[in-house]
Amino acid sequence: MAKPRLIVAPGLPKAVFESLPDRFDATGGDRNMTVEEALAAASDRAAEALLVSHRHKMTADSIAKLPDSVKILATVTVGYDHIDVAAAKARGLIVTNTPDVLTDCTADMAMLLMLAASRRAAEAELLMRKGWRQNFGMGEFLGLRVTGKRLGIFGMGRIGQAMAKRARGFDMRILYSNRSRLPPELEQGARYFAELKDMLPLCDVLAIHAPSTAATDKVINAETLALLPKGAILVNTARGQLVDEEALLAALKSGHLFAAGLDVFRSEPDFDLRFAELPNVFLTPHIGSATVETRNAMGFRALDNVAAVCSGAPAIDSL
Ligand code: DGY
Repeated sequence: MAKPRLIVAPGLPKAVFESLPDRFDATGGDRNMTVEEALAAASDRAAEALLVSHRHKMTADSIAKLPDSVKILATVTVGYDHIDVAAAKARGLIVTNTPDVLTDCTADMAMLLMLAASRRAAEAELLMRKGWRQNFGMGEFLGLRVTGKRLGIFGMGRIGQAMAKRARGFDMRILYSNRSRLPPELEQGARYFAELKDMLPLCDVLAIHAPSTAATDKVINAETLALLPKGAILVNTARGQLVDEEALLAALKSGHLFAAGLDVFRSEPDFDLRFAELPNVFLTPHIGSATVETRNAMGFRALDNVAAVCSGAPAIDSL
């Protein structure tokens, strides 16, 4: 039987890329294609499947340009805010993502950002690279302790829960705000807030783990940041769209926030360079899921979804 014709728009990890010929008649995967290149390849090859990442904005317009041969649009991400899912479904496409497999590494990244922000890791690292050679007094270069502090989690899905699990290892008290309250076995003593605004005044650290939707756009803004206690820390590994970056920059400059750890930005990769000028921000380039193990698992999960749909079976992760 002929192998399914697949267009792979993102550059894939080596192991995933090398597996392509076993199951697919694939084009791409060796570099990042633009959306336009991927659409052209899909038409040229009468592809049955298109694999994209969060860098590929699949708007209603782009989806309308896909050839009728395409059955599945598979994103190799858990977030799917870059896809107009309603337009894709209206077109009869199956849309899939890659949940679960990136939960642990993304929560690890959130921990890294929390610790780096609280212990002034960006300043410390820069100082070392410049040669150090100056003694500090006891009262200099002080960060903040996270052990025993209150961690507020906005968005208590899989990654939020994994963050809570890690933070419990630091004796942190867990608060969370979520659309719905979790059952006790998942809540594990965490305190629930139906309203984010009621939780914020109690957070020493606020970690964002909610999806980017119309309802969460700029949910962290001047008003909500002002509700955090002075000296709080903000961590974001979800999406930059949840944050009003002007308000965040102002809160970091004024010292209302002690620090922030940011892996995601409203605009990527051309993020707002004013963040890079602030000593109290620890910055990473959207690499929450970027480990060998997790990126391989994400790639294989996306390919499993494509293979299932192309063989007439249900997708594993249908949205
Ligand atoms: C996701 O999967 O949504 C990540 O943010 C992209 O790596």
